[in-house]
Amino acid sequence: MASMSYLSLVLMITLLINSCMVALGGNFYQDFDVTWGDGRGEILNNGQLLTLSLDKTSGSGFQSKNEYLFGKIDMQIKLVPGNSAGTVTAYYLSSQGPTHDEIDFEFLGNLSGDPYILHTNVFSQGKGNREQQFYLWFDPTADFHTYSILWNPQRIM
Ligand SMILES: *[C@@H]1O[C@H](CO)[C@@H](O)[C@H](O)[C@H]1NC(C)=O
Repeated sequence: MASMSYLSLVLMITLLINSCMVALGGNFYQDFDVTWGDGRGEILNNGQLLTLSLDKTSGSGFQSKNEYLFGKIDMQIKLVPGNSAGTVTAYYLSSQGPTHDEIDFEFLGNLSGDPYILHTNVFSQGKGNREQQFYLWFDPTADFHTYSILWNPQRIM
């Protein structure tokens, strides 16, 4: 990717059923703002834990206070268990504006017993079309797993 925008980190969960997911990181009080969700996003354990939940009306999300140019981000996430069909948990880096750059992880919820699909994409100067889908080979709802984005001038992994 030739572009060099500053990206901010966003994790959000959207719609449909009554359930809950949790993420774990450095210090959420210092580094992040809960940006939407009307009390459904909460920072706990002295800033070590952030929980997002959703109800029948809406989800919740948080966003980094800073923007970054290159980096490696390790996010520990535990996803909505049970019947999570219709939920999308999105963890992404994005810049602002119409020709934005974006690096996406989207976890598409499923019925109990059926696997989550992990959907990834990369946008460069507003153009996406780099979707890939993965069936996870482990249960992402049973425990925290680390999902990493490595982004440097040479590559995005
Ligand atoms: C749910 O799991 C089924 C069975 O593996 C799969 O065919 C379907 O694509 C999955 N749906 C989503 C949204 O991940």
